[in-house]
Amino acid sequence: MTDDAQSKRFAPKVPVQLDPPKDDPISVEELAKCDGTDPTRPTLVAIKGVVFDVSRNAAYGASGQYRVFVGKDSSRALARSSLKPEDCVPEWYDLDDKEKTTLEEWFTFFSKRYNIVGKVEGAKNT
Ligand code: HEM
Repeated sequence: MTDDAQSKRFAPKVPVQLDPPKDDPISVEELAKCDGTDPTRPTLVAIKGVVFDVSRNAAYGASGQYRVFVGKDSSRALARSSLKPEDCVPEWYDLDDKEKTTLEEWFTFFSKRYNIVGKVEGAKNT
């Protein structure tokens, strides 16, 4: 694939203007509160310890089909194409290469759509 084609992979159809990524530490406890139930907080999803603000997408809202992912690091579920709550945990390093690739693709997908608002405190992300 050419570099140009690569950069267009997983790009949103409607261009999204993103803010510069933030490096602020976000605790697991604070992340859990950002699950869409508190109107004063954003709705957040973390992947590999990187926290994305998905507030603008109703799919992550209270009755959205992907609400299971919010308020936590859901790396494992994304890697395994799972919607099971028990898979919505950060641990991904023991997965097979295909699942790791899927996770990396989701990371790219989210990176092109949602602002990075911080990092999960204490997350193992390499
Ligand atoms: C019957 C099965 C499924 C159907 C019909 C379906 C359908 C869709 C559709 C139509 C979209 C929007 C695509 C776009 O915005 O370009 C989407 C996005 C998505 N799907 Fe699924 N999906 C299914 C299963 C799953 C599963 C098992 C997962 C678990 C990882 C998953 C995770 C996601 C995620 C994270 C998004 C991105 C939402 C966003 O931020 O825009 N889906 N899906």
